[in-house]
Amino acid sequence: MQPVHFIPVNQPLLNGNEKKYTSECIKTGWISSEGPFVKEFEEKFSVRVGRKYGVAVCNGTAAIDAAVTALGIKKGDEVVMPTFTIISSIAQIIRLGAKPVLVDSNPLTWNIDVSQIESKITSRTKAIMVVHIYGLPVEMEPVLELAKKYNLRVIEDAAEMIGQTYKGKSCGSFGDISTFSFYPNKHITTGEGGMIVTDSEELAEKCRLLRNLYFQPRKRFVHEELGWNMRMTNFQAALGLAQLERLDKFIEKKRKMGRRYTKLLSNIDDIQLPLQKTDYAENIYWVYGIVLKEGVFFEIGETMRKLAEQGIGTRPFFWCMHEQPVFKKMGLFAGERYPVAENLARRGFYIPSGLALTDKQMNTVSRVLHGLFK
Ligand SMILES: Cc1ncc(COP(=O)(O)O)c(C=O)c1O
Repeated sequence: MQPVHFIPVNQPLLNGNEKKYTSECIKTGWISSEGPFVKEFEEKFSVRVGRKYGVAVCNGTAAIDAAVTALGIKKGDEVVMPTFTIISSIAQIIRLGAKPVLVDSNPLTWNIDVSQIESKITSRTKAIMVVHIYGLPVEMEPVLELAKKYNLRVIEDAAEMIGQTYKGKSCGSFGDISTFSFYPNKHITTGEGGMIVTDSEELAEKCRLLRNLYFQPRKRFVHEELGWNMRMTNFQAALGLAQLERLDKFIEKKRKMGRRYTKLLSNIDDIQLPLQKTDYAENIYWVYGIVLKEGVFFEIGETMRKLAEQGIGTRPFFWCMHEQPVFKKMGLFAGERYPVAENLARRGFYIPSGLALTDKQMNTVSRVLHGLFK
């Protein structure tokens, strides 16, 4: 049983125009994806990210599925990508029969180690997928240079990076095609939801068709390709618009929370904390991750269990793609090892980091962690 004052790992903030805009959906009867908020959200969100087109979908995983498909990734193609990510990044690459070529992580930023990408490029490589992990963006300049040098497409999974910038330019503006998630733990939420953004009219149109069962404007029930129903509802877009109005405030709050946690926890020797900044970005602390240093007595499951007993919600870090049972059963990644990513997966977890977290709750989290590692 959870303690009475359990501090959940995430709680969104819904105290702006969320109620007003969603009530409007009910008043007007516009509750499906045909409602006017969907277009408005697509337009405002893509402007915010600095892209020409936005295609709203039902979640961030669907956004990646459509993006990868729209790029024409096919059997035999290779996509270079990090092993340390969520399964959403890789699933459609595998379903399409293409080969994900995995890369280890940078031990400090936890993102793909960009210095290892070039050695993974072959004549079959079609794209590089970057995934910005937990709060700091991937170092994009070397990735873009490689893409140019080898004529590769860039897919940017920016699910966790709404409102973050790399060298002052929005995350989500770097890929030929880029994707976002609006799950409630993201910086803005639509409950469930996602967005594909691009500057290519052709890719945007392809994603619109893929999102909507490949219905064609003139011959609706005649299908040239297989799509999905990935549509976002007017309700979701109403939430998204209300949230987007406060994105800057949310980011400010997240950064403040991250800096505060770092101040509170930096004297615990047993744990590695997130980098506050690099020379290209300031951490946005999508989640506040902690990695147990080598030699720490507790293993991660026990640590998380002890924290839960004292009312602190946590989640483990991602489990590497090359170690996923589903891919082992498919005969993929046999014998591959990525020591930095494996260490992160085995020793990393994150603590309550949601926008609704209070200073008092952060003090409690800090007190409990100090007690645990004393
Ligand atoms: C990097 C990354 N990509 C994709 C997703 C999937 O998004 P969704 O949960 O909206 O399907 C997530 C979700 O947390 C994520 O962190």
